[in-house]
Parts: sequence; structure tokens; C-alpha cells
Amino acid sequence: MGPSGSGKSTLLSILGTLDSPTSGSVELDGQNPFTLAEPDLARFRNERIGFVFQDHCLLPQCTVLENVLIPTLVAAPDPGYQPRARKLLEQVGLGARLDHLPSQLSGGEKQRVAIARALIRQPLLLLCDEPTGNLDRNSAAAAASLLLDLHREQKTILILVTHSEKLAGLVPERFELLDGRLERVA
Ligand SMILES: Nc1ncnc2c1ncn2[C@@H]1O[C@H](COP(=O)(O)OP(=O)(O)OP(=O)(O)O)[C@@H](O)[C@H]1O
Ligand SMILES: [Mg+2]
Repeated sequence: MGPSGSGKSTLLSILGTLDSPTSGSVELDGQNPFTLAEPDLARFRNERIGFVFQDHCLLPQCTVLENVLIPTLVAAPDPGYQPRARKLLEQVGLGARLDHLPSQLSGGEKQRVAIARALIRQPLLLLCDEPTGNLDRNSAAAAASLLLDLHREQKTILILVTHSEKLAGLVPERFELLDGRLERVA
């Protein structure tokens, strides 16, 4: 958590290797990703990191199932991805909507597709930037508990930015970003 403009999204961008740090370093799984050349960095990001943004960022021309499979397009072909995508979509309650387009889904449903997409490659690190910010109270609560359940089940590292006290209350460890410092909140 932290006030608007305090650098939460910037921190996630750096942890997610979308932006490089001007000072300090990042280490994930024993590796500093910023020492990698761009193609290797892109592969590292694709394999190890999942993102859920405030806006779902689904591709409008692709179905629900295709959207979840997008991150696998650059991976070596693996017959396991299709069943995994279907299973994740079942888990997020969209098993009956595989062939729907994003425009045929509600905001909460689109966000659930985005969560499934972020998990398809079994990332080590799952970064969520206000994942429930655009949802109504019930959809937000459902998306939040889904994220936390999947996080426990998939054993990813989950880092979540939120302005919601309620969502922040559900996570085991809480930090606040203030004046460029991360402080643990008891
Ligand atoms: N691409 C950029 N180039 C330069 N400055 C930027 C860029 N993106 C963000 N900033 C600035 O960096 C600071 C931190 O922005 P950031 O988006 O990380 O804040 P935030 O904590 O996520 O805020 P919010 O809660 O509003 O999303 C802000 O002052 C912002 O204006
Ligand atoms: Mg932000």
C-alpha cells in the first residue's frame, strides 16, 4: 500500500523487469535479470513472472481460452498447456465461457481471465497492481479470494498492490511505501 505517486507501480515494474532500476539491484531465483541481454530477459520474464494489472489487458479478438494461452505462444510447444488453461479457467469459474470474446464478459469475469493468464506458465513471481481496483465490492472480494487461493495452491511469490484495506487485510505480510521506503506494517 502507499499513497498515489509513492512508486508502487514503479516498484512492480522493476521487480517484473519491465523497467530497470537506477540504483539497487533485483535478484530472483538467484539471478539478477538485468544482467541478461534483451532476448534472454524477455524469456526470463515470460517464464518466471506473471502480471495482473488494474486493467485486464485482454486481446479483444481472441477468445477466453486463447487469451489464457497467449503467454505460451513463445514457449516450446507443450501439449500440457491446453488442459492447464482449461483447468485454470474452471478454477476461476469460467469453464463454460472458453469460446467467448472479452467483449462478452463482465469486468470481474475479464479480470478472472487475466488471473488465469498470469498463472498459465506457473510463474515464480506473480505481480498484481490494483487487481480489483475496477471491480464492484462483490466481484473484488471474489477476485481477491481467488487470487489468494491460487497463490497458496500454486506456491508462487505473490506481491499485490492495493488501495483496499479489505484486500490488504487478507495477505499475510503488509508493507507501506512512504517517502521511497518500504515499511512493514504490523
Ligand atoms: N514513465 C515514467 N516516467 C517518469 N516518471 C514516472 C513514470 N511513471 C511514473 N512516474 C512518476 O513516478 C512516481 C511514482 O509513480 P507510480 O506510478 O509508481 O506511483 P503509484 O504509487 O503506483 O501511484 P498510484 O497509486 O496512483 O497508482 C510518480 O511521481 C509518477 O509521476
Ligand atoms: Mg500505480
